[in-house]
Order: sequence, then structure tokens, then C-alpha cells
Amino acid sequence: MAVVDPVIEVHLPAAEWRAALADAARRSLAARPPWLEPVWFYDERGSELFDRITGLAEYYPTRVERALLVAHAEEIAAIGADTLIELGSGTSDKTTLLIDAMLGAGTLRRYVPLDVSEETLRAAAGALAHRYPGLDVHGVVGDFHRHLAATRLGDRRLVAFLGSTIGNLPPVARRRFLFDLDSVLDHGDRLLLGIDLVKDPASLVTAYDDPGGVTAEFNRNALRVLNRSLGTDFDPDAFEHVAIWDARQRWIEMRLRARWDQEVIVPGLEAPLRLRAGEDLRTEISAKFTVEGVTAELWEAGFVVERSFVSEGEEFALVLAHTYC
Ligand code: SAH
Ligand code: TRP
Repeated sequence: MAVVDPVIEVHLPAAEWRAALADAARRSLAARPPWLEPVWFYDERGSELFDRITGLAEYYPTRVERALLVAHAEEIAAIGADTLIELGSGTSDKTTLLIDAMLGAGTLRRYVPLDVSEETLRAAAGALAHRYPGLDVHGVVGDFHRHLAATRLGDRRLVAFLGSTIGNLPPVARRRFLFDLDSVLDHGDRLLLGIDLVKDPASLVTAYDDPGGVTAEFNRNALRVLNRSLGTDFDPDAFEHVAIWDARQRWIEMRLRARWDQEVIVPGLEAPLRLRAGEDLRTEISAKFTVEGVTAELWEAGFVVERSFVSEGEEFALVLAHTYC
């Protein structure tokens, strides 16, 4: 069969992308304590560093989620979807397990990866179009907070949101996201959610603070992305990577701790960002879940959990849900 190039829809022309995100970033940098949105991690280098994280011995989520997909892809494929949509698809690495099973079930026609990182999405979509000549690959460069409507393709959809990326959204954004997702889905569509589970703090902290410093580099890279996109003058070497388990919120919080007093110019803000030695810039949370907790959150947003697959050591789970109206 002739290979057809994937269609790539770009919803984030550079100018609009920069303006909207820059605005939000200025506000979050002016807040006390200052913080950043997850989206700032994933330029080309950030995506590469994330890819390295997924291969680290300390970072169990990717390995365990892959094993869950190997074990259960056929059961998931049995729902009979014709369109697989993937949010925050990245390299689409684990996704081939789902695609293989869904092609095997004879129902899959289309794969729709959506990601903010254009280079990564183009490379992944191109590779999959070649690997699966009969599959219609329709990539969307976009923001899953704003461009969910672009995934309205196909009649029976399975939306995969893997890697516990949902845990990187602050609770209010997470709730809004689930409601928005529910509103673009039709009766019978499914959601497959990968969630990292609450476990002993020591292994959680090591997963986000590897001794080789890859995660530290990934964290500091967000400052380089800001410098380039926003015109700030952060010195990444002036910050130390910190990963803390917040037992009350049940999340890992990644921070960048100022090694010395500093002032950072933030174009568009009247005053520079002043950080004292030891003060933190909060860069990312990674919330940890229980299947019961997620089931309740999903229910509130309009989803019923029909299956959940928990790894043997109870590290990670895949939750399959459908909409209830
Ligand atoms: N699904 C892959 C990658 C997870 S990393 C896995 O499980 O390994 C998170 C991915 O989400 C990155 O590729 C990043 O570019 C993307 N992402 C982060 N924020 C996003 C947003 N607001 N909209 C769309 N994609 C986003
Ligand atoms: N969704 C991934 C997680 O929460 C993203 C991630 C992995 C991450 N390692 C990280 C985010 C390190 C920030 C820093 O596990």
C-alpha cells in the first residue's frame, strides 16, 4: 500500500501561541510564590530530555504503564473504536501497543495525536504513517486546554491520555479539563487514562530527582524556554532542582531553588522578579492518585469507569471510562 503523508493541523501559529502563553506566564511569575505552567517544559530539547527520563531506572511510570498496555491492549481494543485520539502524545511510543491491538481487532481507521510540541508531533506522526500505511494519521499541533474540538473526528472514539500527564495539571485545571473533554465526546466514546498511584514517598522522590541529574536538567530547561520565548534573563545555573512530596496534596512538587539572591527581568512586568537565596520557583506538580479518587472525579465530570487495570505492585493504573449521557 502506498504511504500517505500524515495530515498535520496547526492550531498554534507562533504569534498567537506566544502571546497567550506569555501573558499567563507573566501572571504566574508575578504571583507569590512564583510558578510556571507545564507547557514550558516541552520545546525540542525538553521533549528529548523527557524521553531520557522515561528510560531511567528510577522513573518507573513509563515502564509500568507500558507493561499494563502489553497485558491489556486487547481488552481495551475490544471496545471497537474507529478513531484513537491521543492527548499530549509526545513520541507516541507506547501508543503502538494500542494501535496494533486495535488494528488487530479490525476497527481502527484513524489516529489523532495532539501535542503542543510541533517538532515532536511531526516526527511521531510521520513515523506512524510509514509504519501503518493503511492508517489515517491526523496530527493536531495544539493545546489540550483549548483545542479539544479539533479531535472531533470519527464515529467511535477512544481518547488516550497516558503518562499520568493529567497529574501535571493543578486541581482546578484538571477539573475543567475533564469537563471540557466530556463535552466534546459523544455517547459511547471512551477515555483511557494513565494515572500514577500514591505510594511510599521515597520512591516517588527518587523518580523525580534521579542521581544522574536528567530530571534536574529537564526542570532547568524550562528557564531556557522562557528566556527564548518571553525574553527573561534567567540563569539556569543559578537554580537547584528540588523534588518534594506534599503529603497533604498528594503530589510531587518540582521546584527551582535560587542558589543566591537574584533579580530576573520579565519583559512586560513593571518590576523584576526578585528571588532570595533559598527561595523557590514552583515549576511542576505531579499528582498521585487512587483508583477510587479518580473514579469519583471522573463521575463528577460525566464519566463512568468501566474497567481499571492496576499494575502488580500497585504503582500505576490504566482507567477505562465512558461518558454517561
Ligand atoms: N504521552 C507521552 C508523553 C508524556 S509527556 C508519554 O506517556 O510518555 C507530556 C506531553 O504532553 C509532552 O509531549 C508535552 O509536549 C505535552 N503537553 C504538555 N502540555 C500540553 C498542552 N497544554 N497541550 C498539549 N500537549 C501538551
Ligand atoms: N507526566 C509526567 C509525570 O508527572 C511528567 C514528568 C515526568 C515530569 N518527569 C518529570 C515533569 C520531571 C516534571 C519533571 O511523571
